[in-house]
Amino acid sequence: MSNNMMDDLEKILVSETEVASRIKELGEAITQDYAGKEILMIGVLRGAVIFMADLARAIKLPVAIDFMAVSSYGSTTSSSGVVRILKDLDEDVENKHVLIVEDIIDSGLTLNYLMENLWSRKPASIKICTLLNKPDRRKVEVPIAYNGFTIPDYFVVGYGLDFAEKYRNFPFIGVLKPEAYEG
Ligand code: XMP
Ligand code: MG
Repeated sequence: MSNNMMDDLEKILVSETEVASRIKELGEAITQDYAGKEILMIGVLRGAVIFMADLARAIKLPVAIDFMAVSSYGSTTSSSGVVRILKDLDEDVENKHVLIVEDIIDSGLTLNYLMENLWSRKPASIKICTLLNKPDRRKVEVPIAYNGFTIPDYFVVGYGLDFAEKYRNFPFIGVLKPEAYEG
């Protein structure tokens, strides 16, 4: 493992400036669409934390925030679609306008499960906001109301996304060198 995380980087896919200006746009769109309403932002731990913090500040409406942690049974790379709740919400979502905030949608299985689970709790509405959309390996369609960037099928890190809990604090979205996975 190198001391300098930047040495592990193959390339930057989305720069810090691009991320910042896109989040500003998403915040403006959400602010318009939810005018007069209160939003309950639900972040999916842990990847969504950094995006959520910036997005919340780009929304000029009252927001409450809450978090869920989920994990798929078995291999994380070839998701089975079976999702387990590791940490549930602290708040009741009944009659709330729920905005699910996710780092990346890949197969769609995680959010498909979360949507179903949350709908059963009778919220007023549910929409999804994802920083990244990776449609190439989609197994189930999920309705994405707000999408930061659609990206090709790279494994990406940064801005909350990790490889083995590293690189979450990169202020951009990047692709690692193959050596970084092997180390
Ligand atoms: P699904 O396939 O259910 O999974 O849409 C979404 C979750 O898979 C993880 N994931 C990634 N994590 N870089 C990451 O750091 C990636 O390129 C990547 N692709 C998927 C992530 O946890 C996401 O919530
Ligand atoms: Mg995640």
